Amino acid sequence: MQLNQRRKFVKQLLVTSLTGLTFSNVATPSALGAPVSVEDESYWENLKKQFSVPNDYVMMNAANLCPSPALVQDKVQELTKALNKDVSFQYRALFSSIRKKSVTLLAQFMGADESEVGITRNTSESNCMIVHGLDLKPGDEVIIWDQNHPSNNDAWLSQAKRVGFIVKKISVPADPKSVQDLLQPFTTAITSNTKLIAFSHLSNVSGLALPAKEICQMAKARGIMTLVDGAQSFGSMSINLHDMECSFYTASTHKWLMGPFENGLLYIQKDYFNRIWPAVIGGGWKEATTVDQQLCVLGQRNDPSPAALPEILAFHETIGRKNIESRIVELNTYLKQQIKSKIPMATFVTPASPQFSGGIVIFNLPGKEIHEINDRLYHKYKIAAAPSGGIRLSPHIYNTRKDVDYVVKAIGELAG
Ligand SMILES: Cc1ncc(COP(=O)(O)O)c(C=O)c1O
Repeated sequence: MQLNQRRKFVKQLLVTSLTGLTFSNVATPSALGAPVSVEDESYWENLKKQFSVPNDYVMMNAANLCPSPALVQDKVQELTKALNKDVSFQYRALFSSIRKKSVTLLAQFMGADESEVGITRNTSESNCMIVHGLDLKPGDEVIIWDQNHPSNNDAWLSQAKRVGFIVKKISVPADPKSVQDLLQPFTTAITSNTKLIAFSHLSNVSGLALPAKEICQMAKARGIMTLVDGAQSFGSMSINLHDMECSFYTASTHKWLMGPFENGLLYIQKDYFNRIWPAVIGGGWKEATTVDQQLCVLGQRNDPSPAALPEILAFHETIGRKNIESRIVELNTYLKQQIKSKIPMATFVTPASPQFSGGIVIFNLPGKEIHEINDRLYHKYKIAAAPSGGIRLSPHIYNTRKDVDYVVKAIGELAG
């Protein structure tokens, strides 16, 4: 056999052994199918079995960390085992081609071109890549929302100290009545020096959803860039980034996408590609024309994690992205209604309207300390919530109406 032929043969063998891994006892997405209707509770009860959360626990913490269905867990584990058997350069090289596939599929999922998408480790890293990679000068202005995550808020303030640009922090009404109510604080803050508006699509501390498309289009029309932090929208809302017209979008796969753990997304609309300097340069980097190759060469990675992305994307497509979004809205609306009717003392932080909210419900119980309630929910009732802006619940498609009823009953008891 010629050397070239031998190389090709070995490569083929490796591809077969990597892609031919089998996953026992795991329903494939196609076996699962889509729900006939979003109200079909038995479908969601059945889907819940795809997750390894024990029956006596209720996970309502997707806004923080989200469990993965078994097929994703198994894929990561199988690939991890395979990699532990063969850590050669040759075998590892195969992960690059799987990563390319993940980038292509992510781009399709987000309504972007594949050259515009890169895989980082999490939203924080992606946000900071924009903050630290963009050339701004003294006197330039950046508008941020006071409900942004620290990685899109403190990060700008810290960089402003170093560079000398100005950061303007704005607030929006807590209970908006119209898109205009949410748009106006941003438009009012704009001056001729404004270069960028950075905001969370959906706030992790209030559950309020901003009209991302309207803000981005308004900014674009004025020549202003936008950074949309999609940590709480990616996977829970059906998004199309070209349609949204943002300049930059960031997210994590370990939240609403349902895994795999520790991947971030970085989207840079192609007109802004040359505006961002690489913040990290790892081995093998060279000047490139795609976001993944130019900005996301971060050194040694846990390769099985991005390699399992096609599994979760197929899972979403099979259930249907619109069905997932509708089910999340349905569960959240039901949760709000139940809290309102069964626990009258509860005060909501999150707007009641589904138009201005998403997968997160935050409320307070006057006179009760949120960390204490959060601990009692977990230790006494085995409910995972979060003490973030109030008592934060984030039901996802692996939750059922029964879970919501159980959670509301537990909170009612704790409210006294
Ligand atoms: C809006 C928002 N942005 C960024 C992050 C940070 O995400 P990660 O920890 O995956 O970097 C979070 C985490 O909750 C968030 O809610």
